[in-house]
Amino acid sequence: RDFCLSRGLGDVYKRQLVAGVVLTLGMGGNVQANEDPVKVGFFLPYSGTFGHLGQGIDNGIRLAFEQAGNKLGGRDIEIVTVPSGANPSNAVSNMQKLISGENVDFVLGPVHSGVAMGALKVARQEGTILVIPNAGLNVATRQLCAPNIFRTSFSNWQPDFSMARPAYESGVREVVTISWRYAAGEEHLGGFEEEFERLGGKVVKRILIPFPSVDFQVPLTDIASIDPDAVYAFFGGGGAVKFLKDYAAAGLNENVQLLSTGFLTDSIAGLGDIANGVRTTLHWNPALDNEYNRAFIQAYKERFNEEASIYSVQGYDAGQLLVKAMAEVDGNTTDQEALVEAMGKVTFDDSPRGPWKFSKAHNPIQNMYLQEVQNGQNVVIGVAAEALEDPATGCAMAQ
Ligand code: PHB
Repeated sequence: RDFCLSRGLGDVYKRQLVAGVVLTLGMGGNVQANEDPVKVGFFLPYSGTFGHLGQGIDNGIRLAFEQAGNKLGGRDIEIVTVPSGANPSNAVSNMQKLISGENVDFVLGPVHSGVAMGALKVARQEGTILVIPNAGLNVATRQLCAPNIFRTSFSNWQPDFSMARPAYESGVREVVTISWRYAAGEEHLGGFEEEFERLGGKVVKRILIPFPSVDFQVPLTDIASIDPDAVYAFFGGGGAVKFLKDYAAAGLNENVQLLSTGFLTDSIAGLGDIANGVRTTLHWNPALDNEYNRAFIQAYKERFNEEASIYSVQGYDAGQLLVKAMAEVDGNTTDQEALVEAMGKVTFDDSPRGPWKFSKAHNPIQNMYLQEVQNGQNVVIGVAAEALEDPATGCAMAQ
């Protein structure tokens, strides 16, 4: 019964989108269905390069649910997990397991931008609500934006665009850029490169290595021989830590300024001083001085016995999104139009990253902080971009 109901409404919703017909669905709906547990699908990686990221997001979502008494709009919550891995070619079938197989009300995921492409395709076809708690794939809130697609993290453009001006203004003129050859790697570098060159800087070489290789020896030798003013890198998860270690082992940390997004320096605890001087941009820092950040960091530590990360913040806000929007619609998931409208209007005044809200394209409008590693700690040294909104190029909802 449950299955038919939400499939049916998914179709209605799609027709609304296509024809622009506004249907008013009766509030009564299937009352029984709105008393069943809300099914939330987790579509995250739990192993491999991004395993730590997926676990952080999972923890963050659970913390938000637990703080809300494990209820969404008065209904119990049933979590269904399908590990996403980091292989884009499995994304469509794994998403189908959650949507057709488990008939979830929401999918929360993924982490990897290539996997996000498959997830977007299925979410757009089926009309299921997708909340992206990490993957920054630009098109998710640009050309492929849709009413049922939300992101609580960032677009790949946001942090990297923000790093270009501070880099240029600090006197950097020639950079080598380096990342993995996959959607996120190329988009992160692109966000920096475009703005840096617009300001007058020059990208003397772009190096892309296969995902998720951590064999940095050859590129680092290449960088040493070019000897640029700075290196601009995008790596995340296990690859980030390995890159920092190899960069230092090659002696480059003493000689060539390393710039990146805060994903590179998310896990520097335990690395000692080797990342000192690395400058990054990110939408959260553990030292942000607001009461919600302090409370979140403490609650996270008590619950999971580890430090919060950017990924756990993004997961926490994804959980908060469901908690707040479901309260607004009294737990009614059958009227999807009302539900997605409530979701779009949620404001995150109590987010650990500071207040933010959704753009019309459903991507966060948020501050990008400039950080520098000092004595093994990421210190906020400024705001690189205030209330930064992705351009949402090609998103019909944003026009
Ligand atoms: C992505 O694939 O979009 C991605 C992965 C890891 C990060 C950030 C972005 O740390």
